[in-house]
Parts: sequence; C-alpha cells; structure tokens
Amino acid sequence: MLPQTIDRPWVVRASTMARNTCNLIRNIVENIQVAPNPNKKFISLSLGDPTAFGNLTPPDELLQAVRDSIDLNESRCYGPTNGDFIARQAVAEYYAHHGKISPDDVILCSGCAHALDLAITVLAEPGQNILVPRPGYMLYQTIAEGLGIVIKYYNLLPDQNWEVDLKNLEDQIDDKTAALILLNPSNPCGSVYTEEHLTDILRVSLKHRLPIIADEIYEHFVIFENKFTSVAALSKDVPILVCSGLTKRFLVPGWRMGWLVIHDRQGTFNVEIRKGLRNLAGRLLGPNKLMQCALPKILTSVPKSFFRGMMSFIENQAILACEELERAPGLRPMLPQGAMYMMIEIKMSMFPAFRNELEFIERMYSEQSVLCIPGQCFQFPNYMRIVLTVPEHILREACMRIQTFCRDYIMKENHIN
Ligand SMILES: Cc1ncc(COP(=O)(O)O)c(C=O)c1O
Repeated sequence: MLPQTIDRPWVVRASTMARNTCNLIRNIVENIQVAPNPNKKFISLSLGDPTAFGNLTPPDELLQAVRDSIDLNESRCYGPTNGDFIARQAVAEYYAHHGKISPDDVILCSGCAHALDLAITVLAEPGQNILVPRPGYMLYQTIAEGLGIVIKYYNLLPDQNWEVDLKNLEDQIDDKTAALILLNPSNPCGSVYTEEHLTDILRVSLKHRLPIIADEIYEHFVIFENKFTSVAALSKDVPILVCSGLTKRFLVPGWRMGWLVIHDRQGTFNVEIRKGLRNLAGRLLGPNKLMQCALPKILTSVPKSFFRGMMSFIENQAILACEELERAPGLRPMLPQGAMYMMIEIKMSMFPAFRNELEFIERMYSEQSVLCIPGQCFQFPNYMRIVLTVPEHILREACMRIQTFCRDYIMKENHIN
C-alpha cells in the first residue's frame, strides 16, 4: 500500500550542482533590460560565432567529407567511448608536430567545451582550486563552480599584449591548486603568446608541479606577423591536456566536434588521469559518429589557402575597427594579434553618467542598436569586447555608430552644441 499523500505538497529541489552552475555571459547579456533603437537596424558585435552572419562559410572539402560520411554505415553506429580509432589517429597525426602522440592520447569530444569539462573534472576535486586568466573565457567558471571547484584568477597585463602577470600567477598557487588553465590565443583579448612567454609559464608550472589545461580552440588563428605555438610543443616536463576542435578554424561551431589531447610528461598522467578520462568519457556525451567518420578527411583535405584567406579577412577587420574606434573619444581599441575579437578600453572618467561599462553599453544599445559584450563578463570591468567576423560593411557601420555615441555623449557632457 502506498502511503496517503493527498495532503503532502510536492517538493522537488534542483541539485546543488545545478544551483551552483552559472554562465555569466549569458546571464548578463540576456538580462539587458533596454531595447535597441527601433529606427536603427540592430547590429550584434557580441556573439563569438563566426558563422552568425553567413559571410564566412566552411571549406567545400569539409562539407564534402560530411556528405560522404552520411553514406557510410559506420557513421550511424555507436563507437568506442573515447571516439572512433581512425578519427583519433587523424587527430594524433594532425598534431604530430607537437611531439609523439598516439591515438590513445586523444579523446573525441562534443566541442572544445566538452574537452574542457573532462579536463577540469579529471584534475580537480570539490574544494580544490584551478587558476584561470582574467580577463578570460568564462566557461571554466561555469564548469568548475557547479562541481564545487574554486576559481582563482591570475591577471593578464593589457599593456604587455595581455601576457600573464607571472608574479601574480605564482601568488595564487596554494596547496589546493589542482591545475592552471592557459588560454592562447585568447578570447576576449585576441592575444597570442610568444615561445618565450609560454616557456616562462611552463617554468612556474614545473616549479609548483601544476598540470596545464591548454585551451587552444583558436590555434593558428593569428594575424600580422604573429606565430602560434602550442604550449604542448614546448613542454618537456609539464603534463598538459590540450583542448581544441573544429569549431572556429573550420567554421562549424554547431557541429560540436572537439577533442582533448593528452600530452603526458614523465608518465605523470599514466597512473590515474588516463583512466579517469576514460571513465568520464564513459558517460557517453561525446560527439556524433557522423562527424567522427568525416574527421580524417576534414583534417587532411582543407587547403592552406582557406585558412590564409580567413586570417587576412580578420586582419583587415582588426585594422578597420582599430582605425575607426581610435577616432571615438573616450575609447582605446587594443589591436589584437589573433583569435577573432578586439578589446576596447572605455575611459569611464570621460563618461561620468555611467556607473560602469554595462550602463555605457546599455545606453549605446538603446541609442545606436549596437551590442558589445561588457568587460565584466570576463571579470574585467571598464572594457568591452567586439567580434571581428561580421561582414565588413556592418563592422564599419557599427564602428561609426559607436563613434557617434561617444561624440554625442561627450558634447552633451561639455554642453557643446
Ligand atoms: C576560449 C574558448 N574556449 C572554448 C570554447 C568552446 O568551444 P566549442 O564551441 O568548440 O565548445 C570557446 C567558444 O567560444 C572559446 O571562446
């Protein structure tokens, strides 16, 4: 007999993990209270999706590889928990220049976000902490805090190409620190680290025996004379989990094809970490088999000219945005070295009516219908981030409107007619 429940109310609680999980960018941007100006077409410079405007399309070779995959029976079957062997082998070969990597060092993931989730989950316990860059991509926090892992920020230096403040990094390390997250090239900064700087970071990591989680989703996304080097290619002693995928470089964010590559050093990861990663992959949340079967062709058939074309587009956009925004009083655009973003300092003392950059951005949105991401989404107030992948004429129009907004505000502030 079931107990009499008629008078007992339902109480269904969300789990602690669900309650503690928060995506800061989504929360701030989706809670913007003002509406855009109905007389001006809305321009979003906020979304880090290079395909959002349809001006950048994936290479034909990639599309053909996925079409071919549809016809394969094995693209419809379940696969191994860590991913299809041939696809993992293709990833291992793709990274051969990083040192010796075998298919067993690769786990296929549902986007880079999933790889980050595996890396953080395998390395840190609830109550331990991980070090993340400020400003930086906020998904690390979203993943960690849900699991009860504490986030500690280390500072980047805006006037030194957003390099890591090494002293500040070291100051954050304590006996509960489980890993260091390194983001290169960076979202939101657009920075690309030199080999020398990466070597300095490795030195800190080695001294404190801290494994690195390298978020390299913008690998090879470099402009001007900059060169991308993976920290894994430089590491002799520090064990590293590299997280990456097709998302940005191949322009298919929605296809969720990512991977985690284990760069073991001194057998550090052999004992438990490999097994832990296999266990976590057993939750079966990995990428679909259709993409896995297409991966070997994708990684070998796309011509270099495709990537060169995309980088020269980003380079021109960065120059355009920087030149236009330098004319906006009160703003300091920071020319990026890579990725697909630009950070802009807002000299808040010139805009005294706004208590913070979010209010500045909200007003600009309501008057000019241009939306940028406030720095507080990256734990870095007084800055805003724009995306450079929008079509050129739209970027130009947006920059003009930002200029107009700043000029009008400063003229009003100074009562100039
Ligand atoms: C720095 C960084 N890491 C990871 C991701 C997530 O990548 P994916 O879409 O492949 O999960 C993003 C997405 O914008 C990103 O900017």
